[in-house]
Amino acid sequence: MKPVKVGICGLGTVGSGSFNILQENAEEIARRVGRSIVVEQVGARRDNDACDTTGVNVTRDIFDVVNNPEIDIVIELIGGTSVAKELVLKAIENGKHVVTANKALIAECGNELFAKAQEKGVMVAFEAAVAGGIPIIKSLREGLSANRVQSLAGIINGTGNFILSEMSEKKRNFDDVLAEAQALGYAEADPTFDVEGIDAAHKLTILASIAFGIPLQFEKTYTEGISQITSEDVAFADDLGYAIKHLGIAKRTDAGIELRVHPTLISYKQLLANVNGVMNAVMVQGDAVGPTLSYGAGAGALPTGSSVIADVIDVARAISSSHESRVPYLGFHADTLSDDAI
Ligand code: HSE
Repeated sequence: MKPVKVGICGLGTVGSGSFNILQENAEEIARRVGRSIVVEQVGARRDNDACDTTGVNVTRDIFDVVNNPEIDIVIELIGGTSVAKELVLKAIENGKHVVTANKALIAECGNELFAKAQEKGVMVAFEAAVAGGIPIIKSLREGLSANRVQSLAGIINGTGNFILSEMSEKKRNFDDVLAEAQALGYAEADPTFDVEGIDAAHKLTILASIAFGIPLQFEKTYTEGISQITSEDVAFADDLGYAIKHLGIAKRTDAGIELRVHPTLISYKQLLANVNGVMNAVMVQGDAVGPTLSYGAGAGALPTGSSVIADVIDVARAISSSHESRVPYLGFHADTLSDDAI
């Protein structure tokens, strides 16, 4: 069967991670999909030393990618809500499926984008928009779909958690740790999104929409960041047996769904208090399943790329119409099951 062709727009931290996963795990991915997935074109303002694009068609104009008739899936990794929105709308208009890690775009423009995508019969997938490598969107939409969700609460900004953890564990100061988070590629292009809670509010908006079946309502989220937390606050909390964690909380109440993002004191006896560094964790309380907890890296090239490529695989399976190409029973196609357990 002919390969599924993707175009990557943006070759920053997540773009390079996604590109490298597609190259490194090409064989395994092809066994899962029943067809190979190839990078047909990359659109990026500059090259990235973290990935070798030799032999790949690279353009400086990202709109070349969405206008390329060969491309089935556009991967939008440029971020922001202006050019990215225009790009995604153009991709949809051109009948292309879209995979994005852009939480601001989904939280603020998702209602409009999904309506357009539905009109054109294309998919828009965004697992990587929330909690980096944790498959929390698939978990809410699929694994927990039998439940009436009562609440969810999570550490959903890796940069903020990295800062608070380093302040607590190593007594480092806020600005130093933020600079390191930027150097490691965890922080947003504008890091005030991380430290003022906007990034977490984008992610909470998306999670709540999926968990409770409500429209995306970013403007309804109470948002408070961690920029006012001092080393003294962290030390006092620690002495009393508490961690200060920045949480996104969505709760079903009699008045409706409450959405809030703010620093919270959590006893060290609780699992969430022990989630440190760039790790994220999301607790979901369902009426049938009870409490669940998902944990993993919340930012970074490969963890976020893992979620981007999982969406690419989902879309590739869905557009492969023959029945052998549907999700196979074991996740891999039967004729590719070769290795024996010892
Ligand atoms: N700046 C984000 C974070 C990146 O630190 O969580 C991943 O969404």
